[in-house]
Amino acid sequence: MKTFYIETFGCQMNAHDSEKVVGTLVQQGYAQVETPDQAELVVYNTCSIRDKAEQKVFHRLQQFKKEAGKGKVFAVIGCVAQQEGERIFERAPHVSLVAGSASYTKLPQMLVQLEAGNRRVTGLSLDTDEAFDTPFTRRDNPHRAYITIIEGCDKSCAYCVVPFTRGPERSRTSDSVMREAKDLAAHGYTEVQLLGQNVNSYRDPSETGWDFARLLENVGNIPGMRRVRFTTSHPRDFVKEIIDAIDRNQALCNHVHLPVQSGSNRVLAAMQRQYTRDEYMRRIEWMKSVNRDIAITTDIIVGFPGETERDFDETLDLIGTVEYDSMFIFKYSKRPNTAALQYEDQIPEDEKTRRLIVVQEKQRAIQIRRNAVYVGRTEEVHVEGYNKATSQWIGRTSQNKTLNFVHAPLPAPDSGRTLVGDYLDVLVTRAGPNSLAGESVAGHVVLQ
Ligand code: 5AD
Ligand code: SF4
Repeated sequence: MKTFYIETFGCQMNAHDSEKVVGTLVQQGYAQVETPDQAELVVYNTCSIRDKAEQKVFHRLQQFKKEAGKGKVFAVIGCVAQQEGERIFERAPHVSLVAGSASYTKLPQMLVQLEAGNRRVTGLSLDTDEAFDTPFTRRDNPHRAYITIIEGCDKSCAYCVVPFTRGPERSRTSDSVMREAKDLAAHGYTEVQLLGQNVNSYRDPSETGWDFARLLENVGNIPGMRRVRFTTSHPRDFVKEIIDAIDRNQALCNHVHLPVQSGSNRVLAAMQRQYTRDEYMRRIEWMKSVNRDIAITTDIIVGFPGETERDFDETLDLIGTVEYDSMFIFKYSKRPNTAALQYEDQIPEDEKTRRLIVVQEKQRAIQIRRNAVYVGRTEEVHVEGYNKATSQWIGRTSQNKTLNFVHAPLPAPDSGRTLVGDYLDVLVTRAGPNSLAGESVAGHVVLQ
């Protein structure tokens, strides 16, 4: 039996790609092992969104330099593979396969070439209208599943490598998405996350012609589907119908991740984001004006080239106005091929760090305030795990907040049955900046 080991870096799209790659490898007669030492084929599914992420794979490869020629074969796939292409063979000569995500449909043929002894196998074409759609996906989680609805990105944000690493947008047909979602529900999955670099620009290529809001609503209506999430959104393509759908259907989670990047119109224009601060704020107002209490999260980049103190203040002001439930904050990182690479007025590293810390502190205070509102409320959680150190179960609310809780009748998983995958009502008794804590109350729903 041939063996493989896979390590995945980066976003949920990459995590799900790996589930599909694992399924394809198993289908081709490979068995997955837990460490690279045990494996004949070592696969790194890579991320290049920021320089730090890109360096990780080269560190890994460095550790195994001496293994080359000892029967071990190395594959670099994903975003760094697509970005660096054949240069990877020069930098790490023990690598034998370099393939980007737009070529994964050809993985079986590439494996045949590897097995035939070819040590320079590539899959680097971005010229595809196919999505990687496979029936062999090996899902890591038995309760929550990812579903790709659209791959690639047609935007051209000045800082972003994704259009270069994942190619042009390709939407799956609504029929194929619905079939996968129904099949998941039939196999006991109660939560799905619809994935794409920009889910809002989803456009059904079949005659059915659904847009994203229609697709979302239809997935939410599948019997047995209790929670539907989606990521990631682009403000420019984010329409009111999405919020109306969430407001109508409890199965659609009341959480929207809407990356703003900056609060300054000048910086947004330089980033080529295609929206103004006012247009972004209109979307926030839609979310705040409906009946459901929608949690809003975002991504912020600090220190984009040319970002002045005044621009930065406008970002702080926007953060204070929106009062996000959570956010990811990044220091701008120069990326190959991108427009911003040529921009003047790069911000010094220590100034980026200072701005990062200022945002972090402001946001921490907001999260403490926002989470405190939940104390005394009862929230439904989907149980994800058990923390032995604290003797608490770990659950997630529809708003995507972590809620750690005690459950009196079943204190620990060793009591014979796990709660993982169940839905429970939990009374929130405490709140911190990053999570809530509480105790379960009546209303335990077992769904297995
Ligand atoms: N530098 C810093 N952050 C970046 N992101 C994307 N590209 C860069 C970059 N070059 C951030 C954006 C995006 C998130 C996934 O990563 O905020 O929304
Ligand atoms: Fe990283 Fe972006 Fe590629 Fe995801 S799509 S793996 S975040 S570079």
